[in-house]
Amino acid sequence: MSADGRNPEAKPGRILIVDDDRAMCQLLIDLLRDDGYAAEVAYDGESALDQYRAVSFDLTITDLMMPKMRGIELVQRLREIDSGALVLLITAFGTIESAVEAMRAGAFHYVTKPFHNDEILIQVKRALEQKNLREELQRLRTEVQARDRFCYIVGQSPAMRRVLETVAQVSDLPANILIEGESGTGKELIARAIHSSGSRAGGPFVAINCAAIPENLLESELFGYVRGAFTDARRDRLGLFREAHGGTIFLDEISEMPLGLQSKLLRVLEDKEVRPLGANQSEKVDARVLSASNRHLEELVRSGRFRQDLYYRLNVIRIELPPLRQRSEDIPLLIKYFIDKFAPAVARRIDGIREEALAALKTYEWPGNIRELEHAIERAVLLGKAGLVGLEDLPPQLIARGGSAVVLTQALDNRLTLRDLEREYIGKVLANSNGNKTEAARVLGVDRTTLYRKLEEYKIKE
Ligand SMILES: Nc1ncnc2c1ncn2[C@@H]1O[C@H](COP(=O)(O)OP(=O)(O)OP(=O)(O)O)[C@@H](O)[C@H]1O
Ligand SMILES: [Mg+2]
Repeated sequence: MSADGRNPEAKPGRILIVDDDRAMCQLLIDLLRDDGYAAEVAYDGESALDQYRAVSFDLTITDLMMPKMRGIELVQRLREIDSGALVLLITAFGTIESAVEAMRAGAFHYVTKPFHNDEILIQVKRALEQKNLREELQRLRTEVQARDRFCYIVGQSPAMRRVLETVAQVSDLPANILIEGESGTGKELIARAIHSSGSRAGGPFVAINCAAIPENLLESELFGYVRGAFTDARRDRLGLFREAHGGTIFLDEISEMPLGLQSKLLRVLEDKEVRPLGANQSEKVDARVLSASNRHLEELVRSGRFRQDLYYRLNVIRIELPPLRQRSEDIPLLIKYFIDKFAPAVARRIDGIREEALAALKTYEWPGNIRELEHAIERAVLLGKAGLVGLEDLPPQLIARGGSAVVLTQALDNRLTLRDLEREYIGKVLANSNGNKTEAARVLGVDRTTLYRKLEEYKIKE
């Protein structure tokens, strides 16, 4: 036993024993300590609560009938302090009904007196296993929620960290937000993250792609209509703004909204009410507006293609998503994330990615940004072989970059100077041409004299 009275080899599990019967307490404490648990004693309910407040226990074992505070009250009060408190009741014969009552109050189980020692030990073990399981579940749940909250956004690069900080700052503000960024940079993902990390998370998230809906339908799609408003309107339609009531409406590709509709949208934003087609009254709506564009709206405003007043309304806060080529630090993380995402769909084991494939991915321009990367990895995982994703598993435009990409990434990683790189490259080319200088000069695009001079300068052995 150590100085604090605890067995140094104690099993994980601190147990509090509560009983006014000191002999019974002694019996239980010996039993539990012998079995390796850390156990402490309280002789009445109040001191049990005091001890519990000081340090929480994994399990409390209490007698049901005690003079000052009955076991049932103790169960209730323990659970007020700690809603997950586990309590095992010990009860004399004939009080089963109160035991049932205690179970209702939240006790984990009860054991009747006289009991077998094993009976207590089995219940203690079960209780602690249940507690562990519950904690594990809770941990997983928080993890999943954390993922959900940000819909899992990969981003360690300074640029993405700034974006995520802004998301955290603005998610609870009522202000409209404009998200700009090239195609596939994650605008919709960010919009969903803003919605689901704010106070409207419980409300609907309604997305509409303004470019995908024909101009003549967009208005009724957004604002709804009443039956008979036009020939095909056989019944009322709510429209997306009213569907988003209490939540968020995400206007994707807002730049494609026709000018006429832009002014109607502006009015809705100003008055916070919509008037469905054919209705003679407006209705209040409370929807937060997020919009996204892969074209710079400001430029469209300047060229008269987008209303300036609407632009100011939508753009109270602006988030700009950097293109993937400006955050290549995130590429390895994204690759891992996408491999993990797609690997469960195939029977093969995928362990990661080969160096030259990674190099090719890191140096590519990514015009389609993260979506393009996601598709490349999906394809490699689905069509490739087991083990590591190789260069040959990537789309053709990436395979073509193969070897030079490795040199480039190494150069970048090691911060090589131009001279280092030139020396390295000349050496490699010469080796590849089996020492044939005419051939090497041709590949390097210089004349033989220049090559000789460089070989001399860099002291490259032929
Ligand atoms: N940081 C990120 N972490 C993980 N996945 C991401 C990230 N950014 C984007 N994605 C994924 O990439 C894909 C494209 O993202 P999203 O649809 O949000 O892009 P977008 O900017 O709206 O594209 P578009 O302009 O083409 O509409 C989605 O599958 C999304 O989940
Ligand atoms: Mg999108």
